[in-house]
Amino acid sequence: MNKKNIGDFNRMVEAGEKIVYLTAYDYLTAKMQEKAGVDMILVGDSLGMVSLGYDTTFPVTLDDMVRHCQAVRRGAPNTFIIGDMPYMSYQVSDEQAVESAGRLVKEALVDAVKLEGGGRRMQSRIKAINEAGILVMGHIGLTPQFMGQIGGYKAQGKSAKAAMQLIEQARLIEEAGAFSILVEGVPSAVGQAITERANIPILGIGAGPYTHGQLLIYADMVGLYDNFTPKFVKKYANVGQVLVNAFEEYAREVRENKFPVEAEHTYKMSEEEIKELQN
Ligand code: KIV
Ligand code: NA
Repeated sequence: MNKKNIGDFNRMVEAGEKIVYLTAYDYLTAKMQEKAGVDMILVGDSLGMVSLGYDTTFPVTLDDMVRHCQAVRRGAPNTFIIGDMPYMSYQVSDEQAVESAGRLVKEALVDAVKLEGGGRRMQSRIKAINEAGILVMGHIGLTPQFMGQIGGYKAQGKSAKAAMQLIEQARLIEEAGAFSILVEGVPSAVGQAITERANIPILGIGAGPYTHGQLLIYADMVGLYDNFTPKFVKKYANVGQVLVNAFEEYAREVRENKFPVEAEHTYKMSEEEIKELQN
């Protein structure tokens, strides 16, 4: 399968075909997602919680993102990959934003970057990165890097006034030259209103069924990450329990001397050599 590009995503929107989007943080997962035919992969800064064990995304560094984007790129060489811009890698200035985005492209060969926020300042950042030739995905609604202002991990745009602000943010982001926008944690009606007004692909996570595509954090939807599960997550598997079961069975067999006794799991030596060894 050829790697999709923005032309393909725009065509999919035009044709009413949904865009399938998942996060990945490592080589193995990326490889399985490419095999499954996922359209785009986000190396999210949710890396901090899912793979690095932090409580928030704030501690994630640009070096962390580069390293994990590289691993995902190696696992999914033919998939469109978006590298998330971690906290304080773009907030300071347009120059900082371009340099950070540039590292993700140069060192990890991502196809695009994503940054959070819908204010005028983010418009400027998106323009600057875009002018450096790098595709940018906006991200509005429940934006974890604004956790302080949002007041916790909760749905956004629940009043008509707040929803109108989100619609305006989406318009500004599109105007700034973003190739797509991710809308997170809003009522379905708000996801729909933003999607209907947009001329670029709108991806949703917890934004209802009307967006042009859907994103989930892979570790949530396969039942690997169980510290906290948002309402919008549907569990397609319980891989966490499968792993615990396997680890337990292995532990039991080792303790009971049942592994590795099978011939298929041990290396052989000729009888002659064994005799010589025993002499
Ligand atoms: O970091 C991430 O995975 C994200 C999604 C949750 C939207 O930004
Ligand atoms: Na993120």
